[in-house]
Amino acid sequence: MSQLEHHSENTANGEREAPEIREMELGDLEPVYLLGERLFTADRWPSLYRTWDEYELAALFVSDGELCFVAEADERVIGFAIGTLIDKRGSAWTYAHLLWLGVDPEYRGSGVAKRLLDRFTDTCIEEGARMMMVDTASENTGALKFFQGQGFGKALQHVYLSKNLTGLPEYRRKRRNRGV
Ligand SMILES: CC(C)(COP(=O)(O)OP(=O)(O)OC[C@H]1O[C@@H](n2cnc3c(N)ncnc32)[C@H](O)[C@@H]1OP(=O)(O)O)[C@@H](O)C(=O)NCCC(=O)NCCS
Repeated sequence: MSQLEHHSENTANGEREAPEIREMELGDLEPVYLLGERLFTADRWPSLYRTWDEYELAALFVSDGELCFVAEADERVIGFAIGTLIDKRGSAWTYAHLLWLGVDPEYRGSGVAKRLLDRFTDTCIEEGARMMMVDTASENTGALKFFQGQGFGKALQHVYLSKNLTGLPEYRRKRRNRGV
């Protein structure tokens, strides 16, 4: 039996128990953070400009709690969708930005992310959003296929460049002055 089959095993009355999609609660912060730690490692997505950390997660939960959702199965958090709304200055449009979407590998391929995205989308529409944005590392082909399958298109390439500052004289001078 595969992990997926195992986790969607029949219940006593013979019916399959689908993961529940619900709003995130305070007690979910830790399991969501730990699941994200497994999914968004800096090694795997070095070019992702955002970093998954507990402060960002807590800040989003406080500022945009109504746009934070979890999927729960077998009495544990197995997925999440977290985003925010953006009112652009000079534009009458409200944009929704899905910042983080993740599903435990053991539960993938059974529509959990799609249900999380649908719930997130419904809430964004209720809140007045007319456009939704998602972003991911360009090498994250799985997520790109998922988003394309859900109707996202018009991909714009945005290139992030970096420069190592530790080789600059100013950096070395500052370190010397600090006595490090
Ligand atoms: C991307 C991700 C959220 C998909 O979760 P999931 O629960 O397996 O997705 P679903 O089962 O809801 O898939 C819905 C559809 O997308 C397709 N899809 C999902 N993942 C896919 C993949 N890796 N490759 C190709 N298609 C994929 C499914 O085949 C399905 O298509 P269908 O409706 O035609 O059957 C999950 O792989 C994940 O957590 N990845 C790591 C985190 C990440 O990259 N997040 C996105 C950026 S923040």
